[in-house]
Amino acid sequence: MDSSSENDYSALKAHYHFTEEDEERLLALKPFLEASVEDFLTGFYEFIWGFGKTAEFLKDEEVVSRHRGKIREWYLDLFNGTYKLTYFRKLYKIGELHVRLGLPTHYVNAAFNYVRVFTLGRIHRSYTGKGDLTDDLKSVERILDINLDVLTSSYRQEEVGRFLSLSSIEKTLLGLLKRASSYFNYLLASALVMVAVFAVGLFGYDVYLLTSGKNSVEEGILTILGSLLILWAAIELIHQEISHLRGGGFALEVFITLAIAALIRKILIFSLSPAKSVDVLMYGVLVLCLSVSYWLITQKSKKKIKEDSIIL
Ligand code: HEM
Repeated sequence: MDSSSENDYSALKAHYHFTEEDEERLLALKPFLEASVEDFLTGFYEFIWGFGKTAEFLKDEEVVSRHRGKIREWYLDLFNGTYKLTYFRKLYKIGELHVRLGLPTHYVNAAFNYVRVFTLGRIHRSYTGKGDLTDDLKSVERILDINLDVLTSSYRQEEVGRFLSLSSIEKTLLGLLKRASSYFNYLLASALVMVAVFAVGLFGYDVYLLTSGKNSVEEGILTILGSLLILWAAIELIHQEISHLRGGGFALEVFITLAIAALIRKILIFSLSPAKSVDVLMYGVLVLCLSVSYWLITQKSKKKIKEDSIIL
C-alpha cells in the first residue's frame, strides 16, 4: 500500500473533521437506512430522470438495473463504518468512470442533493424525541461531502483523487511539469509585453516616417493604421495570456487574430503599389483562409458554451 496515498486519505478525513465517532455513528445508522434502501433507489432514479439527458447515459434497462445495483451497494457502503484506502480508491474509480462516460459533473452534484435530502429526511423522521440528532446529521453530512469531493475529484484532476491514483514518482513529475509550464507561461507573458513595446515603437516609427515626409500622406496613414492593428492584437494576446495564467483555456483564435492583423497591415502597405498586386492577392487569400479558420473555431466554442449553459 502506498504510504502517501494512506496519508492523503487520512488528510481528507481530517479536513472534514471526520473522526472515529462519525464512523461509529454511521455504522449505527446502517440497519435503519438499509430498511429504506428501496425507497431511496426509487426516488433516486425519479430524481435523476428529470435531468433531461439521463437516458443518453443510462441507455437501456440492463444498464439501469446494473447501475441500480451499484448505487445500492454505494449507498449502503456509506454506513459501513470502515473508510480505508480501498473505500476511497473505489470512489475514485466511480468518478473516473463517470468522467470517461462524459457524464456532466453537474449531474453528480445534483444527484447528491437527492441523496442528502432523502437521508437527512429519513433520520429526522425516525426522531423519537429521546436523543439529540445533531451528531448523526453531522456525520451523514461529512461522509456525503467526502464522497462528493472524491467522486468529483476526477473531474477537477486535483487534490485527493489524483493523489489516490498516482504513484509518488508520478506526483513528483507532475509537480515539476506544472512548475516548468507555469515558468514558461510567465516567460511568454514577458515576451508578449516586449512585442507590445516593439509595436508601440513601430507605431512611433510610422508616425516619424509620415511627419518627416519620407512616406506620402496616404501611405503614412495606412502604415500607422497597420501598426495600430498589430498593437491591438498584441494587447489581445497579453489579455489572453493573463486569463490563461489565471487558469483559463488556450484561445487559438487570438493568435489567428494577430496573424490576420499582420497580413492586413501588409495588404494596406502593398495596396499603394500597383506592382505588388499579386502579393496583395496572395495576402488576401491568406486572410480569407485565416478568417474561415477563425469563424470555425469561434463557432465551435460558442456551441460548447451553449451546451454547457443547457447542462447548467
Ligand atoms: C450519487 C451519484 C452517483 C453515484 C454514487 C454513482 C455511482 C456509480 C457506480 C458505483 C457505478 C459503477 C462503477 C463501476 O462499475 O466501477 C456507476 C456507473 C455509471 N453511472 Fe453512476 N452514479 C451516480 C450518478 C449517476 C448519474 C446521475 C448518472 C446518469 C445520469 C450516472 C450514470 C452512470 C453510468 C451510465 C454508469 C455506467 C453503468 C454501466 O454501464 O455499468 N451515474 N455509477
